[in-house]
Amino acid sequence: MGCSNSRSGEVDKPGSAPKAVALQKKPEFPAGCKSLLCKYLTDDVFNQLKNVQDKFGFSLAELINSGVVNPNSSIGVYAGSPDTYIAFAPLMDKIIEDYHGFKPADKHVSDWDASKCNFEALEDKYCISTRIRFARNLADFPLGTKISKTERKEVEKLAKEAFGKFEGEMAGQYHDLATMDKETQNQLIADHFLFKEGDKYLEAAGLNREWPDGRGIFINKAKTFLIWVNEEDQFRVISMQNGGDIKAVFTRLSNAHGTINKVAKFAYNDHIGAVATCPTNIGTGLRASIHVKLPLLSKDMATFEKIASDNHVQIRGIHGEHSESEGGIYDISNKRRIGFSEVQLVHDMYNGVKAMIEKEKELEHAHASH
Ligand code: ADP
Ligand code: ARG
Repeated sequence: MGCSNSRSGEVDKPGSAPKAVALQKKPEFPAGCKSLLCKYLTDDVFNQLKNVQDKFGFSLAELINSGVVNPNSSIGVYAGSPDTYIAFAPLMDKIIEDYHGFKPADKHVSDWDASKCNFEALEDKYCISTRIRFARNLADFPLGTKISKTERKEVEKLAKEAFGKFEGEMAGQYHDLATMDKETQNQLIADHFLFKEGDKYLEAAGLNREWPDGRGIFINKAKTFLIWVNEEDQFRVISMQNGGDIKAVFTRLSNAHGTINKVAKFAYNDHIGAVATCPTNIGTGLRASIHVKLPLLSKDMATFEKIASDNHVQIRGIHGEHSESEGGIYDISNKRRIGFSEVQLVHDMYNGVKAMIEKEKELEHAHASH
């Protein structure tokens, strides 16, 4: 592949960060490639950026490797540090504007006030479970794409110290992936608590280096509050429970956000809000989802997708991104993460799911009267 020199050419020593490698020429993308990388890496942008490195020495080759190795990517880039968004702005700004509708002059907004959640719980008959997460990374470290083994361990150590101080509903235990038995790991994945492993997009971005070292999951006693450590982002903070009580799930996450923000120095700025490894997750870093049962609507993909796009929500399968549905159950979540507050994005999800349930009911009535 055009960009395979960026990672496979040099083998990183354990404990060291990947090395920056310059690109000789613009990589070629196959005909029909639909990634935002392919769309916005024009000759002009390539020439502007080919010799650029961010403050952590992250190069264009590293930034785009995932999208070059995986031409079926929808986005195709993963940042190496908070500074990647500035150093590579001619490419990153275009991708961000296309995905989120967020322009370079726009300002990120935040509002965690759960009392503004203006909605009743959605029906448990359709809503299997609700999950809301936000992504965060520490300000003083490179992101997972560029982090060294030693730094990753340091992030995990800082996280464990903070987790040990959680009280009340947040109190729980950290489980180290490196010492977890396979059966426990597989059960946690099947129960939708833990991240999967071996994602090819993360692999090509260097995010799976030294796996499973430094990775793990914190789980509270009730299994309603969880934190992933050192997967795609250094932290994915999660609130989840069965049924469709979105307000309860958001309230727990909002409280946790308040606590965690007091003890951690996250990479955050007024323009893009929270810095994330993938540009789809910048801003709030928030993905609010419901596993919703839509066996009839999902038979008509065109209508299903139209309701999704009208409400700015995304359809995923039952086992998360890039997975399939089972039994007509889909993961419906807000697509945008920046330019709108946490409260507004949870409303995006609510509106989308509500519209889908209404359509499902209409189809049930139509079937019943036949
Ligand atoms: P992320 O939400 O962090 O972007 P994924 O899409 O990979 O990542 O989902 C991670 C896990 O969370 C998967 O096991 C997925 O099935 C689970 N999940 C997502 N939404 C829900 C939900 N509403 N209820 C239960 N599990 C969920
Ligand atoms: N890199 C993948 C792609 O471009 C995933 C993008 C969004 N998902 C994510 N987990 N960051 O298709």
